[in-house]
Amino acid sequence: MLRTTTKQEVREQVKAWKAEGLSIGLVPTMGYLHEGHGSLIARARKENDRVIVSDFVNPIQFGPKEDLATYPRDFEADCKLCEELGADLIFHPEPEEMYAENFHSYVGVNVLSENLCGKSRPIHFNGVCTVVTKLFMLSQADRAYFGQKDAQQLAIVRRMARDLDYNIEIVGCPIIREEDGLAKSSRNTYLSAEERKAAVVLHRALTLGEQLVRSGEKDAAKVVAAITKEIEAEPLARIDYVELVDWNELQPQSVVPDQVLVAVAVYIGKTRLIDNFIVE
Ligand code: PAJ
Repeated sequence: MLRTTTKQEVREQVKAWKAEGLSIGLVPTMGYLHEGHGSLIARARKENDRVIVSDFVNPIQFGPKEDLATYPRDFEADCKLCEELGADLIFHPEPEEMYAENFHSYVGVNVLSENLCGKSRPIHFNGVCTVVTKLFMLSQADRAYFGQKDAQQLAIVRRMARDLDYNIEIVGCPIIREEDGLAKSSRNTYLSAEERKAAVVLHRALTLGEQLVRSGEKDAAKVVAAITKEIEAEPLARIDYVELVDWNELQPQSVVPDQVLVAVAVYIGKTRLIDNFIVE
């Protein structure tokens, strides 16, 4: 597996692969890889001749009060997992390599970025779209892999690729969970033992909500209320949002639509966790 920190080396390797007619799969990550990331890499491995993993904590998608400085990192462990899963290249640039001085160009998707995480993280999705665009350009990938764990991100990246004619297939992958149901996340490492136990409330509440939707409940307020009540019963939890939106434009609905995303963001202590379900 090739390890590189420079855009130039990625371009050269991609050019050589393209000349051989090989297909390329890209898995964008911020590192500190776990089995959630691993499932994306394994899928990319199956569906492409070559697999590129990017491992870059993207500063422009963090707000001023967010956890950029403390975001967990372990590049050696990341390399080991990527190697085991058969990735061909891991790209691990410094911020200066990705963002030249006087960097002023951003990509964004309106409407889909308004609700859910967009409300409390106003610059976040423009930062994501911008870095993802750069990674698409560098990798010239045929397919890129994103987890449903970040459902709004998946929807936004898909829309960006469609609206702006990016010649790349966006592949969505299911949420990988711990045994007790907590969605795997690099940020779970922030949780104390007590908080870790409390964090299961996200999945427990969403499972309740999903049962309601699947049993035919059409009143969105009732679904949201049931989820909210379950989370509020956990003393260590503080709700950022519980939202029910259509899985197309990500707009709040009063009647549960046929394609629905129900998503939550909850602080467990100081750690903000997200989770969701989609019924299509
Ligand atoms: P990161 O949080 O490292 O996640 C990288 C990819 O792994 C995302 O597509 C995310 O949805 C997926 N992922 C994380 N946890 C998962 C889980 N439990 N099950 C399935 N997939 C999971 O998302 C980002 O990085 C960044 O915003 C990025 C797209 C790399 C842009 O900087």
